[in-house]
Amino acid sequence: MTAAVRGRFITLEGGEGAGKSTQISRLKSWLESHGHTVLTTREPGGSPGAEMIRKLLVEGPADRWDGMTEALLHFAARRDHLHATVWPALDRGTWVVSDRFADSTRAYQGYGHGLDLSMLDRLYAIAIGDFGPDLTLILDLPVEAGLARAATRRGVETRYESLPRTFHDRVRAGFLEIARREPVRCAVIDTDREVEAVTRDVTRIVGERLGA
Ligand SMILES: Nc1ncnc2c1ncn2[C@@H]1O[C@H](COP(=O)(O)OP(=O)(O)OP(=O)(O)O)[C@@H](O)[C@H]1O
Ligand SMILES: [Mg+2]
Repeated sequence: MTAAVRGRFITLEGGEGAGKSTQISRLKSWLESHGHTVLTTREPGGSPGAEMIRKLLVEGPADRWDGMTEALLHFAARRDHLHATVWPALDRGTWVVSDRFADSTRAYQGYGHGLDLSMLDRLYAIAIGDFGPDLTLILDLPVEAGLARAATRRGVETRYESLPRTFHDRVRAGFLEIARREPVRCAVIDTDREVEAVTRDVTRIVGERLGA
């Protein structure tokens, strides 16, 4: 028996309310219509253990953790997510689309909270190794518009949203810097447009870059 061809790993990144969840469900349908088996997942979370850690990260007061503790929690959740969910799926030939991944740690804990970026690179190497996304779509939207959109979903997961506007400005600039540094892996998509127009760009880029 020949092993299944390994699936592809696509991540969607961006600030609060940028349109990640909306576009992921549309991308899943598009990939399935092209014959792929698709698993959608999210970070922090995406496995039973990582979902438990998620609650510690997205609920409660903003000052609940110092930055380093928060980064370690994100990487602990990420490692469990990869082990339990992402790697087994890729090995089966399933395409995995994740709502956030390590670029969010770099943007939020690094650019947002000021943690040393090379320290985050070292943590990544220790916790994850040399695995990474085949393609990362960075959804970009002015901060005010994103926070207004995110407010429509509210619930208890408001810990990051509750941080000041200047924090979210740094996060947005951080994501754009990540894309500038890694243009082969990343593509920036302007989401200050109608949902349908954004989806056309998302699917076009996935088709061009991954031959989907
Ligand atoms: N292009 C768009 N134009 C207008 N509204 C949009 C657009 N894309 C998404 N929305 C709406 O904005 C809100 C936030 O979108 P969505 O949940 O997809 O963003 P997200 O990036 O997943 O947010 P979060 O960071 O809160 O998880 C939703 O109510 C969604 O319907
Ligand atoms: Mg979402």
